[in-house]
Amino acid sequence: MTEIEKKMRDLEKQIEKANYEYHTLDKPSISDRDYDMMLNELIELEETYPLFKSPTSPTVKVGGVVLDKFVKVKHEKPMMSLANAFNNQELIEFDKRVSKEVTEYSYNMELKIDGLAINLTYVNGVLARASTRGDGVVGEDVTENIKTIRSIPIELRKPLSLEVRGEVFMPYSSFHKANEERLKEGLELFKNARNAAAGTIRQLDSSIVRKRNLDMFCYTLVEPHKYGIHTQEGVLTFLNDLGLKTNPNYKVVNSIEEVISEISRYDVLRKELSYDTDGVVIKVNELDKYDQIGQTVKYPKWAIAYKFAPEEVVTTLNSITFQVGRTGVITPVAELSPVMISGSLVSRATLHNEDYIKALDIEINDKVIVRKAGEIIPEVVGPVLEERKNTIKFEMIKTCPSCGDLLHREAEEADWFCVNPGCPAQHIGKLIHFSSRGAMNIDTLGEKVVVQLFEENLLKDIRDIYVLKDQKERLMTLDRMGEKKVDNLLMAIENSKSMPLDKLLFGLGIKHVGAKVAKIILKRYPSLELLSNASVEDLKTIPDIGLATAESIHHFFHTEYARKLIQDLKEIGLQVEMEVTETTSNLLQDKTFVLTGKLETLGREEAQTIIEKLGGKVSGSVSKKTDYVLAGSDAGSKLEKAISLGIEVIDEKRFKEMTSIE
Ligand code: IVH
Repeated sequence: MTEIEKKMRDLEKQIEKANYEYHTLDKPSISDRDYDMMLNELIELEETYPLFKSPTSPTVKVGGVVLDKFVKVKHEKPMMSLANAFNNQELIEFDKRVSKEVTEYSYNMELKIDGLAINLTYVNGVLARASTRGDGVVGEDVTENIKTIRSIPIELRKPLSLEVRGEVFMPYSSFHKANEERLKEGLELFKNARNAAAGTIRQLDSSIVRKRNLDMFCYTLVEPHKYGIHTQEGVLTFLNDLGLKTNPNYKVVNSIEEVISEISRYDVLRKELSYDTDGVVIKVNELDKYDQIGQTVKYPKWAIAYKFAPEEVVTTLNSITFQVGRTGVITPVAELSPVMISGSLVSRATLHNEDYIKALDIEINDKVIVRKAGEIIPEVVGPVLEERKNTIKFEMIKTCPSCGDLLHREAEEADWFCVNPGCPAQHIGKLIHFSSRGAMNIDTLGEKVVVQLFEENLLKDIRDIYVLKDQKERLMTLDRMGEKKVDNLLMAIENSKSMPLDKLLFGLGIKHVGAKVAKIILKRYPSLELLSNASVEDLKTIPDIGLATAESIHHFFHTEYARKLIQDLKEIGLQVEMEVTETTSNLLQDKTFVLTGKLETLGREEAQTIIEKLGGKVSGSVSKKTDYVLAGSDAGSKLEKAISLGIEVIDEKRFKEMTSIE
């Protein structure tokens, strides 16, 4: 597998996990902005390397996994997602693409409501069905729940049959009330209003939904031409006239320059609203031009979502506490008066190190500016000096908060370290890092379980993870550890043995060896044995590897600890060598093609021979397992099926480019 393919598989995995956490569990672990950035990166890679695109890529589906507890519903027309823009340049590029296809158009700007998309079906003016987006093709029937939302009419003002789409969301007032109740009941709080809304819609008991006071803004009419409507503005008016709720803050403008200047107005306006918005949706206003502008499998080309920059807020710094990392590094943490930032409640933020606090002149009791710049952990940007009173000067601690040993700081480093090899916090940190998503991905061995097993003396070091299976009986006697949970844990540990070496190397937690550096190093030294024999001089010659990293790697592999650990991991059966990379003759390895329609220059048989020669397969019917549909003229139902399943459709020209013929 090439580096690029690996990167793409890695991104898919990360996005899928994030999707699952966000859409299915309603418990995100990364910020929306981080998610969007990863998705954009994957979309870009897929556009540059279409051959490496996986048929099940999360960029094809636009949402999460469909739960079993609600009846599944296939959407009449797929529910698409929107491409994102993060800056003005990306808006200008979007406009350029539009102007290549059509002339004389305007834009309708709408707030991007941060909730979840719902499809409503009205038959003869009566609400017949409501469904979630699901994966864009199949959603869940949530009619009973939707009926409880007050702003959604059960009967329209006219007896029309139509399909409408919009965003269900939880206003701040309902969100705060729901969390107050959860606090009283000792339940985990909702992280933000969007998750609260998504969690609520998936309640099986609709009376709970009613109590949560959700709301909905409608913005799409599925077949507008049937009602003689030709603009997006017209859609909003039409829906509003039927008794459906639409957001009043829309605006029609005539150029992308006007869009850009209006966006700053929206960024001010949104702070005064009683619900979350995460951007502005810009749609070509003239609906009749949509077909000409076109769409990709993922999103229409006639619209784009501009995402607002991260929000900054002011709050009080009540105290500074200290965390001990896996390398012994001590990180000061700001304990803040809880404050909402970008839709979630923040009460802690990193202060990086002693120098950072001193350089920014931060004191305890200061009012500080906090921001969540696409990070999971928010950061303190600086103090509001004009408001300083009764502050206490910051003093760095001298001893480790975990083991009590004296801390050390090297002259050229900004960080203080606990160098006690027996420090419990460091061991716990190392174990958490080893099993984390970016490393060995043992998802059932999260922070809580690691701490529990550490305290029970079952886990002190990485190698102990792989002998836990001999302690099954003991594990089952522990708190919150039934047989099923233990089995899952042991299975995930067993599975991790086949993780590629770059994950293991990253998981070892060697100073300066992040996920990327691990991959770079293994290109030169594709086994732990080769790497452990490399000199500092040799390591330094690897591109992007500096002296500090080279020394750190060399030092690690020359400790008794590492020698023994590596020997043990090899015996346990972990991957201590890299897989050999594929050659170009396997260009289509494991890719399944379906041929349909009449091919102009290539005969079908010829195309089939080419595919098979390059390691691919040709199948007679389109399914989820199909990677590409090669379509010629007069392609029929196979093509339709491919589109509905979101499978990449290519023409002869593209096929020739892919396989490098001509
Ligand atoms: S239009 C074909 N308009 O944003 C695109 N979407 O990131 C149809 N959203 O799936 C969507 N406010 O859930 C549209 N005014 C708005 C929106 C909006 C929020 C959501 C919607 C969509 C997602 C895309």
